[in-house]
Amino acid sequence: MSSTVEVKKVFKTYGNGTDVLKNFSYKFEEGKFYAIMGRSGAGKSTLLNIIGTVDKPTLGEVLINGKDVAKLNEDAKAKIRMKEIGFVFQGFYLNPYLSALENVIVPMRINSDIKKDERKNLAIDLLDKFGAKDLIDSKPSQMSGGEQQRVAIARALANNPEIILADEPTGNLDEENEAVVFSCLKELAENGHTVIVVSHNEKVKDYADEIIVIER
Ligand SMILES: Nc1ncnc2c1ncn2[C@@H]1O[C@H](COP(=O)(O)OP(=O)(O)OP(=O)(O)O)[C@@H](O)[C@H]1O
Ligand SMILES: [Mg+2]
Repeated sequence: MSSTVEVKKVFKTYGNGTDVLKNFSYKFEEGKFYAIMGRSGAGKSTLLNIIGTVDKPTLGEVLINGKDVAKLNEDAKAKIRMKEIGFVFQGFYLNPYLSALENVIVPMRINSDIKKDERKNLAIDLLDKFGAKDLIDSKPSQMSGGEQQRVAIARALANNPEIILADEPTGNLDEENEAVVFSCLKELAENGHTVIVVSHNEKVKDYADEIIVIER
């Protein structure tokens, strides 16, 4: 399975009259690492939220595998968000009441492809991949920003999603962890995933297949 994401003539006007993404179109294909760059406030997070179906465009459409996501009901959208899309949010949004391990397991709970007794080991492997194995029992409030970021990345990959959306995924990381994260995202793209990364980090250019600059 593989996924394409087609953004067609998208405009977003927020309630306060702020216009971003004026007529933005792009076709994102599987097997590629896309870096989205551009100034603060340009509309990068807005674009990612629209692709991730957590926000709607004012005009235009988003097709995932050729299907207009606006035409899906909330259930179908929730399913896509949980199984097909892995989202690393700019603000992490870990559940503050759960440990790192539990945070990574949550999305697996609705995935019938992962057996109940496999979840824990899979989650530990993912955390280990990002050097966060020691944090298994820690709650977000007990972690540094970079640690929370790495747990959020592990959680986004929990269901091995076809589409990976990452908003500034290295914003809180040191160089070593930054390289781990970018290399992992690159490897996922090489394995056929559709990887879309918003970043201010110039190093992303060493990993990306295509660089898209969003202008306000
Ligand atoms: N919910 C909202 N209501 C009103 N305006 C918003 C809302 N969300 C974003 N904006 C505005 O839209 C513009 C684009 O915001 P967005 O978060 O997409 O920028 P960005 O490119 O991700 O910036 P950064 O690099 O700082 O993360 C900004 O001017 C912002 O103030
Ligand atoms: Mg942003």
